[in-house]
Amino acid sequence: MDPRSLFLMTDPSGYEVCYEINPWMRPAAWSADKAALRERAWVAFAALKGALRAAGARVELLPGLRGLPDLVFPANAAVVLDGKALLARFRHPERQGEEPVFRAAFERLQKHGLVREVVELPAGVIQEGAGDCIWDAGRGWFWGGFGQRSSEDSLEAVRDTFRQPVVPLELATPRFYHLDTCFCPLAGGEVLYHPPAFTPAALAAIRDRVARNQRIEASAAEAAAFCVNAVNLDRTVVMARAPDSLRRTLSERGYRLVEVDLDPFILSGGGAYCMTLRLDRSSDPAAAALAAE
Ligand code: ARG
Repeated sequence: MDPRSLFLMTDPSGYEVCYEINPWMRPAAWSADKAALRERAWVAFAALKGALRAAGARVELLPGLRGLPDLVFPANAAVVLDGKALLARFRHPERQGEEPVFRAAFERLQKHGLVREVVELPAGVIQEGAGDCIWDAGRGWFWGGFGQRSSEDSLEAVRDTFRQPVVPLELATPRFYHLDTCFCPLAGGEVLYHPPAFTPAALAAIRDRVARNQRIEASAAEAAAFCVNAVNLDRTVVMARAPDSLRRTLSERGYRLVEVDLDPFILSGGGAYCMTLRLDRSSDPAAAALAAE
């Protein structure tokens, strides 16, 4: 097996900002400068893909589609662990058209041996993929966001599908509508998170499980720059352009920051993590260690 990490990304050929399903989305700003933003989106996409490859990852590409602009955020396509992909179901009609496209993409990945099994959520359950369900490789559990997009009963579906523990984290505000906008476990055991995004019970769940010196609180400015929405590969953290404060914090902890100008995607409420989906996550710590090398 190829020990390099493997990501899925969607090219921005169908990307635009034409509706508003989260408070960051700016359709008017997009329309005002469409042509330039479209071009910048391609540059940003290429830079992010390049940063992942430079960090040693492989990237599988899915073509974008006109009419499905948020297909560029495959973190919402599925939860993937141990070769099993649990396909997402979206809350908003604007994104529901992505479901058959992602299903077909996963069936293709399965044919090519890049995933082993593709499974569906139980009827009525809403779950928006890895954006709301983040595997913590060091701890051996999922952190499961709910309350904004994904429904609470999705956590049980994830537990049943993967036979792994899920720690529920209720999200308190539409500003942080997916867990990946406000929560990012790092390879060294730290968790970068934005406390105001969580309910008191969720904050208690984090504080009970993550030692104080491993909790890195992201400020409002750092979260608004979509820097918590980061891709971490070993000591490298790939993210949107970061405020100095965060650059300092992470480098003091021994991480190497790779910043990409993702402004065109931030106009849709997405950053680096949302634009990718890790396909090779394993619950076996030995395999996970190998993939991190
Ligand atoms: N416009 C998209 C939405 O609101 C952005 C999704 C970003 N993805 C994420 N995993 N946070 O659904």
